[in-house]
Amino acid sequence: MAWSTGFLGTRGSLMLDVVLLAMFAVLPLLALSIYLVKQKKYAQHKLINLILGTVLLIAVLAFEIDMRFFTDWEVLAKDSPYFDEQHKWTSIAGLALIIHLCFAIPTPLLWIYVIVQALRKFPSPPLPGEHSRAHSKTAWLAAGGMLMTAITGGMFYYLAFVASRAPG
Ligand code: HEM
Repeated sequence: MAWSTGFLGTRGSLMLDVVLLAMFAVLPLLALSIYLVKQKKYAQHKLINLILGTVLLIAVLAFEIDMRFFTDWEVLAKDSPYFDEQHKWTSIAGLALIIHLCFAIPTPLLWIYVIVQALRKFPSPPLPGEHSRAHSKTAWLAAGGMLMTAITGGMFYYLAFVASRAPG
């Protein structure tokens, strides 16, 4: 049973819709925060990324609770031409979900690591220093992971909860 039907007019649950929008809302803010760091506005970069990290953590937790206890995605996907209940993980939607999870599981862990390390190793207020090289490497990976999580999540959402079998 879905926790509640979503607001995007698809078969997605309320939480699926919220998380889909949150994933795409994060991207322009992340781009802004990277733009700001290039302008040497380190404190603003820090603030935006701490807010994004918190929002992402809340979204992931709410999503996990919804998926574990309230929403059965297979039921919501059953009208999709790309989903087959008999061959769940080899249907196109199932494969898209596996690819999505390859990004969606490591990315929040990487975000936690990047944020914890940045808070421990940059001074406050933040300034470039010995941690800069390590931060740049892992932080670009975290940003790329976020982008791929959103793209692959959007593809899975479409295949499972938007696409419909032609009537008749
Ligand atoms: C997951 C969250 C974060 C992401 C994705 C992120 C992303 C980035 C990226 C991509 C750069 C390199 C820009 C370039 O190539 O020139 C950068 C630089 C920087 N970040 Fe972050 N950041 C995050 C969190 C933080 C936090 C929490 C702080 C402060 C405590 C911080 C402080 C800095 C500083 C000081 C630099 C400049 C390093 C330098 O140019 O020497 N970042 N960040």
